[in-house]
Amino acid sequence: MAAGIDDISVYIPKLYVDTEDFAQARDVDIDKMRKGLGIYQMAIADNNQDPACLAANATYKIMKRNDIHPKDVGRLYISTESSFDESKAMNAYVVGMLEQVYGPGTFGHCGGVETKFACVSGSYALYDNLNWIRAGEADSQYALVVVSDIAKYDLGSSGEMTQGAGAVAMLLSDDPHLLTFDPKVTATSISDEYDFYRPFGKDTPIVHGQYSNLLYLLQVRKALDLYKKKVLSTKLITPGPDESILDYIDYLNMHLPYSAMGRKALAYLLRHEWRHLPRWKSLIEKIGMAEPVAQHPGTIETILANPEFIKDDSKFNRLLMETDEFIDIYEKKLSSSLIASKMIGNLYTASLYLGLRSSLEYEHRKGVDLAGKRVGFGSYGSGSSAMVFSGVITEEYADVVSKMNLDSEMKNRRRLTLDEYELLHRGQMPLTESILSGDGEFILTDVNKSNSERQYVFKS
Ligand code: HMG
Repeated sequence: MAAGIDDISVYIPKLYVDTEDFAQARDVDIDKMRKGLGIYQMAIADNNQDPACLAANATYKIMKRNDIHPKDVGRLYISTESSFDESKAMNAYVVGMLEQVYGPGTFGHCGGVETKFACVSGSYALYDNLNWIRAGEADSQYALVVVSDIAKYDLGSSGEMTQGAGAVAMLLSDDPHLLTFDPKVTATSISDEYDFYRPFGKDTPIVHGQYSNLLYLLQVRKALDLYKKKVLSTKLITPGPDESILDYIDYLNMHLPYSAMGRKALAYLLRHEWRHLPRWKSLIEKIGMAEPVAQHPGTIETILANPEFIKDDSKFNRLLMETDEFIDIYEKKLSSSLIASKMIGNLYTASLYLGLRSSLEYEHRKGVDLAGKRVGFGSYGSGSSAMVFSGVITEEYADVVSKMNLDSEMKNRRRLTLDEYELLHRGQMPLTESILSGDGEFILTDVNKSNSERQYVFKS
């Protein structure tokens, strides 16, 4: 049975910090943020919003747009790493909010859990729900997978410039109108790591930034190797003599903690895939230097402790990225997926899927015929695990994509002053106050001081 995505909705908070203001306040070179990391604006949640509100707003949008009633939804999964309760799943809060609109008990039949594995958990939730559909358990009902996060780092830390907030809701069915996932090729990798983690009680993560960058690349590469084995054995892709499986992936969507990471990952994966192909020889001639090799046995620690290697490797990457071969692939397969990330920032679990929406919309707008194109996904979550999988865009995708408009989601946002941003970051505003009123949205109105119960309303 086919299984895939029918529609994707996005909810982005209406506040943002501009890198111009941020760079000035933190005395960071703006070129580092814009050119180095690819960040122009970062979405910031208002004082009357938590990740459950963001998730409910994205879910309500997709239900309204597709004229779906709760009785049509068999499963509602929420994936997040911004959870505020150790026991009560975020789904329950979201159901409570949606039932304010659809009526008490309307979701009573619906199953689902909150899933956690840093940024990759949404991909696990997607996979599990696709398999629920493939197994024939859905009984003509939809599954909703909602990824929602507030990416918040310590003030003054190097991670602070890679923040963001937002939610993406994906409507899944056995007759998908947007994208059908390839069966039996989803690949995973996992290892016990401390690159980025948020211990109980902490509101911000502990981060080893450069370690996390490298681990992301290694973990995704491991998953890609397994994906490759699977696509070859299932004959989904049969590359010719000087070909790589990446030649058969028309679009790539990578996890985007910041947009430049997508470009970095593309370069890394191409190196990995091309190094053994005949085309590598002529590319090396163009680059004008041999590919640096890490000392053996290369661990992340030994690599990071070797500044000479890091310097050579960065130089090699830079030269590779300047070749026509790289630029062509970057422009065709990746660049459109980065547009939204540049203006919104890291959405943790939702970043990969915001990238998918961005790619679909901006490629469609270019006039490209997307029908039948294969999309590859590189999902990464710290801690750490990666997933690589793929799907094919449907024939009728244009009906769905033409109704999407990320520009309008990003247009009417309020630029925060650094003082307002820091006030929100420190949680120093009483809950009765917020920057915006939240009209037409679900908002948080109270967190009970003695028992932590939360109250939400839909502000019509
Ligand atoms: P940093 O050490 O301050 O930055 O932190 P840098 O020195 O690495 O510079 C960044 C880039 O800007 C470099 O480019 C510089 O060369 C360039 P690269 O070598 O990478 O190509 N640069 C400039 N370019 C132009 N003009 C200039 C200039 N100056 C420098 N003047 C870091 C960067 C991302 C590590 C930090 O912000 C951080 O710790 N962020 C949080 C962790 C993170 O995002 N890690 C990403 C991988 S892990 C992941 O994706 C999982 C995650 O989403 C969490 C989850 O799974 O839940 C984070």
